[in-house]
Amino acid sequence: MVALARFDTEGRWEETWVCDGLVRQHLAPTGVQFGRWPLRPLPAPGGLDAVQAAYAEELADLGPDFRLHSADRVALAPGDARWPALRQQFLAEHRHGDAEIRFFLSGTGLFYLRSGDGFLGLLCEAGEWVALPAGLAHGFDAGEAPAFEALRLFGQPEGWVAEPTGAALPALPLYDDFVAQLLEQVGEELEG
Ligand SMILES: [Fe+2]
Repeated sequence: MVALARFDTEGRWEETWVCDGLVRQHLAPTGVQFGRWPLRPLPAPGGLDAVQAAYAEELADLGPDFRLHSADRVALAPGDARWPALRQQFLAEHRHGDAEIRFFLSGTGLFYLRSGDGFLGLLCEAGEWVALPAGLAHGFDAGEAPAFEALRLFGQPEGWVAEPTGAALPALPLYDDFVAQLLEQVGEELEG
């Protein structure tokens, strides 16, 4: 289930949305697109040609701002020795010179996106994709014990090339805290 939370400039959690329509509506001002694709078999490691063959129709629907030139696949499991360094790299707020799309083949991940004066936290899971436009400041986390596999599709032939914003960010909750707070909020709403 997708979830989107809005944070103010100080990192205070302001509002939460969990249905697709509301998530899309509140992502729209940032130029970020969100959706679902069917999970189809892909050859490993599944370069751009394989992804384009499997998802030709879906990729065409993304429109002209998302012309893709490279693809790779990232898979992380709890205890992966690469994760501490990768986590710092992904968490540090950055921009790409062109579009970046992530399609989750399994597991979950959390994006932080700049939105106006504040931030949006977008939690995605398997079958969901997010398309970030060129230049949007963002970060990503998957928690202390990452468990996801995602296709990464890039508008630039070099793949993942990032420009750090170097911005001093407020203390936004990392993946594990985000999920815990989200579950608390959903529980409170259900109790009414
Ligand atoms: Fe990125």
